Amino acid sequence: MADSPNDTTVHGGLDPLELERLGIDAAGVLDLSVNVNPRGPHPAVLRAIVAAAVASYPDRTSSRARHAIGSALDCDPARVLLGHGSVELLWAVVSELRRHGGGKPLLIVGPTFGEPESAARAYDLPCTRLDMREADGFAIDAERIDLELSASAACAVYLCQPNNPTGRSLRSSELQALIARHPRVQFILDQAFLSLSTEHAQAKLRLERYPNVVSVRSLTKDHALAGLRIGYALASPDWIARIEAQRPPWMVSTPAQAAAIAAMQQPEHVRDAREFLIAARQQLSAAVVALGFNVVPSDAHYFLFHVSDADAVRERLLRRHRLLVRSCRSFGLPQYLRVAAGDPIASERLLRGLEELRP
Ligand SMILES: Cc1ncc(COP(=O)(O)O)c(C=O)c1O
Repeated sequence: MADSPNDTTVHGGLDPLELERLGIDAAGVLDLSVNVNPRGPHPAVLRAIVAAAVASYPDRTSSRARHAIGSALDCDPARVLLGHGSVELLWAVVSELRRHGGGKPLLIVGPTFGEPESAARAYDLPCTRLDMREADGFAIDAERIDLELSASAACAVYLCQPNNPTGRSLRSSELQALIARHPRVQFILDQAFLSLSTEHAQAKLRLERYPNVVSVRSLTKDHALAGLRIGYALASPDWIARIEAQRPPWMVSTPAQAAAIAAMQQPEHVRDAREFLIAARQQLSAAVVALGFNVVPSDAHYFLFHVSDADAVRERLLRRHRLLVRSCRSFGLPQYLRVAAGDPIASERLLRGLEELRP
């Protein structure tokens, strides 16, 4: 098990202060460091956001939006909870584990998204990490998770499916078997990227019917609504009530609720984006392999590849090629870069930049 060498507060995206320090105009920079649908939000979703009435308080139960998500997923709306982005829901789940987890630790399957660990630190919940092996391409190893859960006193496990930054995920049969083998462990499944991945059919698995699963999803990535802050959790009604008890009222604005309702009417927007992005990832990763870099297999639309010094290569690509990629140092992987596929011009810049650095 690893300590926590990662900086859980670092995220992708343009940093205006860094650009100013380097004397770079943000307008000329292309960004492969974030994994949001590059096609943007659907026009009908944008119209719904603009039309939303903001003079009065939002429906604090998000009732219509919960019903819209429930009918899109064939799931009881009583098992749906909306949040101010999925990260807010993750923090609320961690807060609940702190209150009622009996002081037992949260197991984090890493290397992964840092927010659950940040939340554990903030709420003083003990937390341990089980890192997947680099030699296995960071494949999610259900057997090792199994052994760790059987041997440890963990009250819960955080599993990102597909994982950020590695793009790896468990197949659905393995995932269900793992959950069933540990009925006393709470599974926090982060499925923020599921709908844009090759494992998207898992979105239809009714995992929230397991009383020990909270699955957290986001409209940030597939519907490109990062700035609006909208995500949702699927869980047992008991868990929904427990998560809700951790948060202030009105966490989900009226425009965000309207966007969720409108987004549920646009499954083709996500399907088309997924088909395009997966094909783009396959093409880009093959081109990076052809340049001699080691690429980690991915189920998502982003992927990792190995470089000598990720921070140095990142800065070089930014300075010379006006291209932002994600150094994975903050995930505890200082020799890996993560890039998202989908922007042909940015991909070309990446390949040009990597050509100069061929190993
Ligand atoms: C794995 C993962 N989960 C959740 C989130 C948070 O997404 P949201 O915008 O829904 O809060 C992110 C953001 O990068 C992420 O990478």
